[in-house]
Amino acid sequence: MTLHLDERQRAMLAEMGIRPRLPAARTRRRAEAGEAGAETQAAETRVPADQAPPTARPPVAPLRPAAPREAAVAPVPASALGPRPEGVADMDWATLESTVAACRACGLCAGRTQTVFGVGARVADWMVIGEAPGENEDRQGQPFVGQAGKLLDNMLAAIGVSRQAALGPETDASEKADGQGREKQGVYIANVLKCRPPGNRNPQPDEIAQCEPYLRRQVALVRPKIILAMGRFAVQSLLRTTEPIGRLRGRVHQYEGVPVVVTYHPAYLLRALPEKAKAWQDLCLALEVMRG
Ligand code: URA
Repeated sequence: MTLHLDERQRAMLAEMGIRPRLPAARTRRRAEAGEAGAETQAAETRVPADQAPPTARPPVAPLRPAAPREAAVAPVPASALGPRPEGVADMDWATLESTVAACRACGLCAGRTQTVFGVGARVADWMVIGEAPGENEDRQGQPFVGQAGKLLDNMLAAIGVSRQAALGPETDASEKADGQGREKQGVYIANVLKCRPPGNRNPQPDEIAQCEPYLRRQVALVRPKIILAMGRFAVQSLLRTTEPIGRLRGRVHQYEGVPVVVTYHPAYLLRALPEKAKAWQDLCLALEVMRG
């Protein structure tokens, strides 16, 4: 799809680090070179946000040297796990947050520094759902704080949304308005998993199942008008499907009665620069949904 951009949209794309013509031209060249079907499931596989991803595609510089291998986390014996907490569907924010912090319903509790609950405006039109905390998030207790988080913030800024907006008087005024003085909209950002999978391995189905009630309650409390689901695990677990993102993009799905737009994970976009143009299309679709 060709994007026709006005000056303001070009400025937005610059915030995302996109040069508008380049991705389309590159994509066309790749197609002409016979590289059809670039959106494979493998390409959407979870990329640890805070490690240099192995890249098959030039020219992406590594983000940082590969992290040293971590000591394996000993599996938690079933007797040391707690029951899945009850009454989650009726909890208020404070109870939900403390319940998550104390959760021992799956083995991930053994390796975490802390749980990563969520960040942003607790009532917001926008909600972003990622996959799971990485090393930085586990250390800092906030979702999306690494390189992928920076890209996410730029993507959100491009559509006038900020995790700092709607947070009250203590927030810096520059975080609340865009370059043209328009008020930014608030967003709540959470992950499917609240604990870091050791070594940033893929989330397991039982871990997703144990954590899902927490996310469902967060969605009910935030009452977003749109959910942006980022990355294969978030998308597939929210939509209960095994379809790859490439086949789910461009349509509006539903989760608990809330419209969902799916897009690539920012960590994937960091190593697949031409795909940023598609992410931009996804953001435009989300904006359209928001504007009714
Ligand atoms: N990737 C995610 O999906 N979530 C985070 O919080 C960090 C990286």
